[in-house]
Amino acid sequence: MFNARTKSAEETQALAACIAELAIAKDLLLLVGDLGAGKTAFTQGFGKSLGVEESITSPTFTLAKDYSGRLTLNHLDVYRIEDLEEVRDLALPELLEGETVTLIEWGDQIVPAIPQNYLEIRFEYGQEDNERIVTISSVGASWHGRMEELKEALADWSIQK
Ligand SMILES: Nc1ncnc2c1ncn2[C@@H]1O[C@H](COP(=O)(O)OP(=O)(O)O)[C@@H](O)[C@H]1O
Ligand SMILES: [Mg+2]
Repeated sequence: MFNARTKSAEETQALAACIAELAIAKDLLLLVGDLGAGKTAFTQGFGKSLGVEESITSPTFTLAKDYSGRLTLNHLDVYRIEDLEEVRDLALPELLEGETVTLIEWGDQIVPAIPQNYLEIRFEYGQEDNERIVTISSVGASWHGRMEELKEALADWSIQK
């Protein structure tokens, strides 16, 4: 686990772009944090780095949307899910197959219903208006092996908390 700090939405997008460069097929990332914390901004930077040309918006009303890029980006927002049973309707096992990377906003709400192999990106408001503290942690083997590389890639934003 390590911490980073960004001072604008653009910086959060740049940080996301660095993470996207290390993404491989079937990756899963959970984006955690209050409304307006930066989950969608992160996804926009991540998608741009994958070569997504379409503009990425919040999928709150559609739950899931996919974008084509170096890897297909699945962007989900599960804010409105009230019951873990509803996660089945998202057909996650199928989404996580193939040349894809999946980002789930509010993903912490559905942890019991997803594979325990993901990178968690947690956003908290900092002291300044545009400051965000970003806590990055891995669950399971897949991202665990990339944590040192990831930490190095994000060194510009790194902080000791
Ligand atoms: N450091 C920062 N990182 C991300 N967003 C920021 C930052 N500073 C200000 N913002 C603003 O906060 C808002 C984040 O919105 P959004 O990404 O939609 O949040 P969420 O998806 O978590 O609800 C945007 O208006 C963005 O411009
Ligand atoms: Mg959002």
